[in-house]
Amino acid sequence: MVRLILDSSSGGYPVLIGTNLNRNLRDVVTRLDPTGAAIVTDSNVRPWALKVGKAIKRAGLKTGIHAIPAGERSKSMTQLQSVLAFLERQRIDRGGIVIAVGGGTVGDLAGLAASMWQRGVRLVSVPTTLLAMVDSSIGGKTGVNGRRSKNAIGTFWQPSAVISDIAAIESLPEPAYRDAFAEVVKYAVAMDRSLFDLLQRNSPRLLERDSSMLERVVFRCVAAKALIVAKDERDRGPRAILNYGHTAGHALEAATAFRVTHGRAVAFGMRVAARISVSMDLCSKRVAESQDGLLTALGLPDKPPHADPKRVLAAVALDKKARRGKVAWVMPRRIGHAEIGHAVPGALVRRVITRSLA
Ligand SMILES: NC(=O)c1ccc[n+]([C@@H]2O[C@H](COP(=O)([O-])OP(=O)(O)OC[C@H]3O[C@@H](n4cnc5c(N)ncnc54)[C@H](O)[C@@H]3O)[C@@H](O)[C@H]2O)c1
Ligand SMILES: [Zn+2]
Repeated sequence: MVRLILDSSSGGYPVLIGTNLNRNLRDVVTRLDPTGAAIVTDSNVRPWALKVGKAIKRAGLKTGIHAIPAGERSKSMTQLQSVLAFLERQRIDRGGIVIAVGGGTVGDLAGLAASMWQRGVRLVSVPTTLLAMVDSSIGGKTGVNGRRSKNAIGTFWQPSAVISDIAAIESLPEPAYRDAFAEVVKYAVAMDRSLFDLLQRNSPRLLERDSSMLERVVFRCVAAKALIVAKDERDRGPRAILNYGHTAGHALEAATAFRVTHGRAVAFGMRVAARISVSMDLCSKRVAESQDGLLTALGLPDKPPHADPKRVLAAVALDKKARRGKVAWVMPRRIGHAEIGHAVPGALVRRVITRSLA
């Protein structure tokens, strides 16, 4: 098991990464000394939440479990209300805690509810997907979707503890598992050369879900994200580096009405960004080739997704990270280092995206 302490404006909090951590979870919760605990999960993760519930009961706390329907559609105002009503039924007061057991969907929704209930109660995050472990459980962004816009309604609310139990990953469906590697490669290419080397050397072990290797990889990703979040908790500047691959990625998701999954879309987006970077002489061809090779080795092949280039390009122009019409591309310079703030000519974007979809 590894333990990190992450800094945030609301104080440091522990992140535990390891296998079969229910006893550690109990200890962490005991230390928080809450007046009550309420577990939020989804319909697929309920068995895991039951185990968490047992551990909490051993800490001498009464707790209830509320399961939302699995899936992104639950990031809604309706489900937010259902979670808030649950916290009220559970009589969670200002000393209580919300425990989110699930992937990013549960984490974002329960985090938002925790930040609102009683003007904010503590949140313990128990991520059960690889994506949630490496990405959504860290950094304090919570949210639900608007009618048309993703994550439109949300808050910044840092957790009081994160317990990433690698054992949960065993039952994760293969597509969700593979998809998360897009974010893992993102950290490696944009920020961490030695993570990149580790991934290159161990892709077969990772595809087999080797838990000690996963523990190392999750640790490195959490450390990378924490470093950036500590500099820019509210996402006003340097945190934009974490958007690597997401400019063309989000555009592809929007242009295909989310038929292309987030991980696949981000992998596509990183391939596009690297090609643009090569064309602008910002990085060598070798950089793009090794990135693309690693994506393929981790189960994110480069088969072009079915999408209309015109729609993708229109969506790039609408990118929500754009300021005054300038799209904020993140450009790799070498493995382990990407930069923001390079002006990318529109004609080049059109050429690369059109070719990448051919
Ligand atoms: N807050 C942030 O900073 C941040 C960052 C990245 C993504 N996100 C959000 O995270 C969400 C995606 O997260 P996700 O990929 O974890 O999706 P998810 O939470 O919807 O989980 C994917 C599927 O796997 C199931 N599942 C979860 N854990 C499982 C397990 N251990 N075994 C079997 N099945 C399991 C879920 O029920 C669901 O059907 C998106 O809504 C995205 O916007 C947030
Ligand atoms: Zn992402």
